[in-house]
Amino acid sequence: MLKRLMLGTVFTTLLSFQTHADQSVEVLHWWTSGGEAGALNVLKDDLSSKGVSWNDMPVAGGSGTAAMTVLRARVAAGNPPTAVQMLGFDILDWAQQGALTDLNAVAKEGNWDAVIPTALQKFSKHEGKWIAAPVNVHSTNWIWSNKAILDELNISEPNSWDDLVSAMDKVKASGKVALAHGGQPWQDATVFESIALLTGGGDFYKKAFIDLDEETLGSDTMKTVFERMEVLRGYVDDNFSGRDWNLASAMVINGEAAFQIMGDWAKGEFLRANKKPGADFLCLRVPGTQGYVTFNSDQFAMFNVDGNQTESQAQLAKSILAPEFQSAFNVVKGSVPARTDVSDAAFDECGKKGMKDLVEANDNGKLYGSMAHGHSAPAAIKNAFYDVITAHFNGEFDSETAVAELVDAIAIAK
Ligand code: GAL
Repeated sequence: MLKRLMLGTVFTTLLSFQTHADQSVEVLHWWTSGGEAGALNVLKDDLSSKGVSWNDMPVAGGSGTAAMTVLRARVAAGNPPTAVQMLGFDILDWAQQGALTDLNAVAKEGNWDAVIPTALQKFSKHEGKWIAAPVNVHSTNWIWSNKAILDELNISEPNSWDDLVSAMDKVKASGKVALAHGGQPWQDATVFESIALLTGGGDFYKKAFIDLDEETLGSDTMKTVFERMEVLRGYVDDNFSGRDWNLASAMVINGEAAFQIMGDWAKGEFLRANKKPGADFLCLRVPGTQGYVTFNSDQFAMFNVDGNQTESQAQLAKSILAPEFQSAFNVVKGSVPARTDVSDAAFDECGKKGMKDLVEANDNGKLYGSMAHGHSAPAAIKNAFYDVITAHFNGEFDSETAVAELVDAIAIAK
């Protein structure tokens, strides 16, 4: 009897070890900059504390364009990762193909419906089922500035396009780089959407990037947006082309440049460099866009994979939505929590501003999905915007032609 009992104990221990050992997730993501990797470590450590090991699959390239290409190859080969960082309409595309695991049980247990804003749920659910776990809410209509340069040149917070141009003129005249920028399509589009918002306002933004209204896309206002992009082209340095976004952030961090128009993942780089908001850098809304928020949310979608990954996928989803994690991760990442019930106590002044702006924009109907980061239209449309915006920024055609090209490109991509 005793022998049988002992054997049973050994077997149970081995089985639990075996099950425990299977608690691993292979995660495809594009968080490869210093700030992003620092935030990701919060998630890796959290999972490790729950016995789930992390099999890392980083694919460098801002906004995930390269990562989505690798994902398509992995799925085509019948070998999808356990979980994938995804944005907006890309999640819905995969959900429509039936490729994503149903997270409803975890969502029900965690009462996600009550704490995740409807603007995010639009991208986290398909046919009423949760198919992605939202990590955060980033916003793109920020301008980051080096406070020492602004103080030295007696530049106050720009509140309009004209203020911004005169500030950049002062910086350029001082010999510093006025606008730190990386010449990559997604970065050009990130700047473009803010200039569109400041030029045409919320209704124009919605009609252009969400409704894809042809008249708006071909309007004189859109021509002005392109003309203003031409003006900004005159404030970047000669080596902007192809520069990664975090290297542009580094130019503002180290005092080489005064401004960068970029999403608040840039703040993660400032924090990583031990810079303090309000002392070393300022987090300001792009002039003329105060009150509005153009957002994108990083979500993790789980793929239908063989074996007993479902338990570790559920644990990953639970960990992501845990309030403590939502605070710890977003404090480092530069974004704000996806959950609406997380205190801002741990956040710095930029984080607190981001959380306050999000609530106000949502309440006032001034919250819009970022076009550049996959939250205003599906990928084919987003890429059509990228192509025209970047070709124009690189001087391939003038603003008049850019408007006509945009109308055609979106009509074809629809
Ligand atoms: C965004 C993403 C951010 C950050 C940024 C730069 O699309 O939501 O988390 O990775 O791209 O790559």
